[in-house]
Amino acid sequence: MNKTNQVAVIAGDGVGPEVIAEAKKVLQAIKPTLKTPIELSEFDWGAERFLRDGTTLPSGALEDLRDSFQAILFGALGDKRVPEQIHARDILLGLRFGLDLYINLRPVKLLDERFTPLKGKQPADIDLLVFRENTEGLYAGVGGNFKKNSSDEIAINEDINTRKGVERILRAAFVAAYGRRKKVCMADKANALTYAHGLWQRTFAEVARDYPTVEASHLYVDVAAMEMVRAPERFDVLVTCNLFGDILTDLGAAISGGLGMAASGNIFPGRCSLFEPVHGSAPDLAGKGICNPIAAIASLKMLLDHLGESSASAHIGRAIEHVVKKNLLTADVGGKLSTSQCGSAIADAAQA
Ligand code: IPM
Ligand code: MN
Repeated sequence: MNKTNQVAVIAGDGVGPEVIAEAKKVLQAIKPTLKTPIELSEFDWGAERFLRDGTTLPSGALEDLRDSFQAILFGALGDKRVPEQIHARDILLGLRFGLDLYINLRPVKLLDERFTPLKGKQPADIDLLVFRENTEGLYAGVGGNFKKNSSDEIAINEDINTRKGVERILRAAFVAAYGRRKKVCMADKANALTYAHGLWQRTFAEVARDYPTVEASHLYVDVAAMEMVRAPERFDVLVTCNLFGDILTDLGAAISGGLGMAASGNIFPGRCSLFEPVHGSAPDLAGKGICNPIAAIASLKMLLDHLGESSASAHIGRAIEHVVKKNLLTADVGGKLSTSQCGSAIADAAQA
């Protein structure tokens, strides 16, 4: 066992540094409950660095992270000054792909009924885990432009689906279902994307046979989106491809308190994995001290789960429940506190 867990911190742009500061406050508060000490190393990758010296993901960074770190705590990337957000794509997608973080795990969990716009839905109705494939699909970057910037232009993004890539995300979803309500639903579009999602369907049928006590079902993604709004209680574990997962998890955030509450993990089990709030850099909120730190703090909780620190993670879970109950929250979820006051309230409750 490691004598310390090495955690890289990439606070990034926009509200990233503000929410990461709160996550670090909470980490400090739960320190005594850690089985293994955590050592943090800060990395300055982001828009400022890019504008200064052109660096996105420095060479050697992937190897360094993979070999010397157990996890990455990530804030957000995105800045209007950077054309086409090349730094954000290079760094975030670079880490997802380069570290082969094939599971994008995004819990959709309603903590209080007052946070959902869905009439009559209770916390027990909105509690699902989305497994988004995170290393291929339409995000693979395979394609190009032909006759660019002419009236004859052709633009292609290939949808890459490998048997191995599909199988491993499906298996991860089935394994997770064991510890929950034992239901896996796959969202695909095999009725239109017959080749790519035909592979998903065939692989799903095969993998499902290995998990006979898990109820396996599938919905076309358009229906899945509708059902997440109409009857979210149908879902336990939802597994899908990269692009559909991107879309469905924003919908998931919207029904469970908004992006300020949505945490995520980009995971390769047992290897260096990255944890980040789903909200992005939110430039219009940056520097005002008003953004919700809970998504980042809940991402830290997922990071601790990844490190096997279940007791520390449970402390954070209870602390978040506490601030929700007492309405010690930021304005986006109906509270009156600043980012830092909310973070402090969670840190205090986590310590208690
Ligand atoms: C997310 C984001 C990213 C994605 C962007 C910034 C490339 O929307 O993490 O959901 O599409 O995956
Ligand atoms: Mn997204």
